[in-house]
Amino acid sequence: MVNVIGLGYIGLPTALMLASHGIGVTGTDCNEELVGTLRSGRTTFREKGLEELFADAVKAGIRFTTEIQEADTYIVSVQTPYDKFSKKVDPAAVVSAVRDLLKAAPEGATLVIESTISPGTIDRSVRPVLKDAGREDVQLVHAPERIIPGNMVYELLHNNRTIGADDRAVGERVKELYASFCEGETVVTDIRTAEVTKDVENTFRAVNIAFANELAKICRSDNMDVYEIIRIANKHPRVNILSPGPGVGGHCISVDPWFLVGDYPMLAKMILCARTTNDSMPEFVLGRIRDVMQQEGLTDLSRVGFYGLTYKENVDDVRESPTLQMLESMDRHLAGGQVKVYDPWVTRDLVPNQYHDFDAFLSDVDMVVILVGHSQLREHMDKLKGKVVLDTRHICFLPGTHRL
Ligand SMILES: NC(=O)c1ccc[n+]([C@@H]2O[C@H](COP(=O)([O-])OP(=O)(O)OC[C@H]3O[C@@H](n4cnc5c(N)ncnc54)[C@H](O)[C@@H]3O)[C@@H](O)[C@H]2O)c1
Repeated sequence: MVNVIGLGYIGLPTALMLASHGIGVTGTDCNEELVGTLRSGRTTFREKGLEELFADAVKAGIRFTTEIQEADTYIVSVQTPYDKFSKKVDPAAVVSAVRDLLKAAPEGATLVIESTISPGTIDRSVRPVLKDAGREDVQLVHAPERIIPGNMVYELLHNNRTIGADDRAVGERVKELYASFCEGETVVTDIRTAEVTKDVENTFRAVNIAFANELAKICRSDNMDVYEIIRIANKHPRVNILSPGPGVGGHCISVDPWFLVGDYPMLAKMILCARTTNDSMPEFVLGRIRDVMQQEGLTDLSRVGFYGLTYKENVDDVRESPTLQMLESMDRHLAGGQVKVYDPWVTRDLVPNQYHDFDAFLSDVDMVVILVGHSQLREHMDKLKGKVVLDTRHICFLPGTHRL
């Protein structure tokens, strides 16, 4: 029996995947409302293929509860934010989940930490909990997750995985468990290597995105077309520049590089610079909005609309999203509460002047700032005809479109 603890964006699909592949699974979350929703037969977020997976798992007998269960394997997939001041990982949720599960764990149980953590977190924060509880019989494993929101179900099935364990045989056993559904290659290594590898992967992405964002700024400063330059440069056989954008959000690329900066402040110089560049993009977009408004003779901020609230296309996750960062910045500068906002994926009211109808949104604005490239917009781009458009995602090719 597997007890998955933390049923958010990562824990829920993992629990469902195991259950639908014949493993006995109980999913536990401390959020009663979330567990209530799952028990009533509904999923808690929108994701391609999740409904079908949920139905399969329910048929296979998955249970949802707020209580930690007696199980031979625990998978902990709770949130791991960073401390805003020190930039170090905040392992409080992991530590609390481990403390709780030790009360139910039988002797020799396997404890898999799936949450992303910084190098050494298991040594510093998890082992002491086991030691204090006199539970060094528990077998520790770190199996970080790589899936991308928007394609989670496919990636759970096909991604390669990393499993770090103290004891190789335990690592191999956990590999077998994931192999119940995972068709990718799984590397078994030690815990520290698994911890740092995960951070390195997301940091690689952050640094490469920062390079594209820096190019966008350079090109804007001297009136050059960054997209054309990247398109041509990428014809070089060993060049693959990513796309610039309005900033980086989500719970991975915007968070994990900070763990390395927090732990190695004197060494992680390029990483810090990359994070700073990415974090400056929402402010850069605000500057572009001011420039485009001036150029187009627009003066009324309440006739400007932000399209997109999520941190990427075709998901409902708004954590750390560039749009929210821009709205917060406007608020700090006493310009809050004026622009109109619309996102087809965000159905709950989150910010002032938020619309839930695309046409109503469009009829109340003269300028649209494209911040997320949802398919909904790509399929209805003609509706932006006649509007002033600032496109930060390079998806609108209507004449006169302004870019980053
Ligand atoms: N979201 C992603 O795209 C993604 C991708 C790869 C890895 N990760 C990593 O996976 C981990 C989980 O991320 P997420 O996005 O699923 O987070 P999330 O916030 O969506 O989910 C975490 C869940 O854990 C629950 N929880 C917290 N403490 C608990 C406790 N003590 N007992 C029971 N439940 C508890 C919360 O109520 C919440 O529902 C993080 O470390 C993250 O970095 C996330």
